[in-house]
Amino acid sequence: MGHAPNLVTTWERAGEDVCRQALEAFAEVGRRIQAAQATVLITISNDHFNNFFLNNFPAFGVGVAESWIGPEDDLRYSGGLINIPGRPELANHIVRHLYEQEGFDPAVSHFLKLDHGTFVPVRYTFPDFNLPVIPTFQNCIQPPMPTLARSAAFGQALRRAVESFPGEERVVVIGAGGMSHFIGVPGQGRVNEDFDRRWVSLFEKGDLQGLTGLTPEDMLEGGNGGEEIRNWIAAMACAEGRPAEWLMYAPVPPWLIGMGIVDFHYQSA
Ligand SMILES: [Fe+2]
Repeated sequence: MGHAPNLVTTWERAGEDVCRQALEAFAEVGRRIQAAQATVLITISNDHFNNFFLNNFPAFGVGVAESWIGPEDDLRYSGGLINIPGRPELANHIVRHLYEQEGFDPAVSHFLKLDHGTFVPVRYTFPDFNLPVIPTFQNCIQPPMPTLARSAAFGQALRRAVESFPGEERVVVIGAGGMSHFIGVPGQGRVNEDFDRRWVSLFEKGDLQGLTGLTPEDMLEGGNGGEEIRNWIAAMACAEGRPAEWLMYAPVPPWLIGMGIVDFHYQSA
């Protein structure tokens, strides 16, 4: 799903129709998560220089703290800073599994001020912030970035890490970011609907190979912000490449993004 800060800061500029579609789709995701009786939410998103910087920008990261605060950026949120519970036992298990079984060595964070990348999806699916969150991160903003295939591998590894947890948890995973957008570069605000539709089709078909086969040159079509599609790819791979049900798609230049929300309908055995 989308995670743009503009979903909060310039919400009303998108017009009544798009706002209604987005609200309904977010609410539907929240309902489905509640119906699944989830006990913890894992987000796959990216930081935007609010926690990680040029001096050390991890390719992958996992947050293991007992709680988080956010939003730590320019969101105008009437509730002020919010405390969101974490799930350290499962988070630490995930890290250990990734290190020992998967050949992934993510950065580990014990303190994070969540920015819009994680905060927006949580805010719109769980407005009461009452579901514990394990935030995970991929570098989608600072080249060089992980390959799309590596993002898919991260999602697969994450699923196996969760499935190997000996405790009782019901886990839901949200990948957040994208779709096409151009930020801080010439053409800022442009949305490439044609390229978004290509993504729509690949996700709809469950074509993980088609997605990870997109070249760096292809990805330029989606803008620098479109690199965040890594978070969708990791979520889809986490769901064993299941085809996506599109709950909404709309090009929304007033939010500076192509806005999409999907459900991969995956349930672990
Ligand atoms: Fe972003």
